[in-house]
Amino acid sequence: MQPTTTTAESPIAVFDSGIGGLTVVSALRRELPGEDIVYLGDTARVPYGGKSRGTIERYSEEIAALLVGEGAKMVVVACNTASALGLPRLREVLSVPVEGVIEPGVEAALAATVTGHVAVLGTKATIGSGAYAHALQAARPGIRVTSLACPLLVPLVEEGLFEDELTDAALHRYVAALRSGDADALVMGCTHYPLLAGALARAAGPAITLVDSAANCARTVARRLDQLGLRAPSGRVGSLDLSFTDTPDNFLQVVRLALGLEAGEVKVRPVPPLDQ
Ligand code: DGL
Repeated sequence: MQPTTTTAESPIAVFDSGIGGLTVVSALRRELPGEDIVYLGDTARVPYGGKSRGTIERYSEEIAALLVGEGAKMVVVACNTASALGLPRLREVLSVPVEGVIEPGVEAALAATVTGHVAVLGTKATIGSGAYAHALQAARPGIRVTSLACPLLVPLVEEGLFEDELTDAALHRYVAALRSGDADALVMGCTHYPLLAGALARAAGPAITLVDSAANCARTVARRLDQLGLRAPSGRVGSLDLSFTDTPDNFLQVVRLALGLEAGEVKVRPVPPLDQ
């Protein structure tokens, strides 16, 4: 059910465990320049990638409830970990449509693979959930999936080491084996990873296409808004509002520059627990 207070001019809420979801915001800005976007990064509780389903569900629900309470017309879960583990619950409890990044990532991977062998990189929680492998196999039975948990990559991104020998060494450890196999599509199954795309492409080799779910997620959101008659009127110029649950450090600036994101003052605000 759609709350009566949301209209086509209401904002789209986007959340992530931290700054990684800004890669999805960047794609949304390109695809839907007329939409107001309200982004909340849960930097006080990042990383989600090593946490349990119950915790990830609770964090996701607390953030989404806050943003829907403030009038968002749709929630975009710009975090693979929260999409893999929290999305079913959010779809159950929220009164607005919810889109995640797994389904768009699966669609993009299926479009990219010729050999029918897809590699998926993600956090421990995302890979442990089996969400990508299940969704890929449901969409194309018989597809082969190699799933790799890469817990060192988020800290390397958060340290800004996009191009660094430490990052190259970690990526080599995670993906070198793929070079001798026939996987030809590699899903960057964490919204931090597109910031490592250059290093990842070198490590994976030229036979592997990197799949970023962000662009496909933005197209899915656009389609869904059209279906619901909720797309912002054409000609409108959308705004971007960034907030975090803890003080962002200089790294936010680095990411905003890398992604070309213009936004006003960055706010810090807490997320109240569900029962308050
Ligand atoms: N950005 C999150 C994701 O897409 C990973 C970061 C974290 O572990 O919280 O999975």
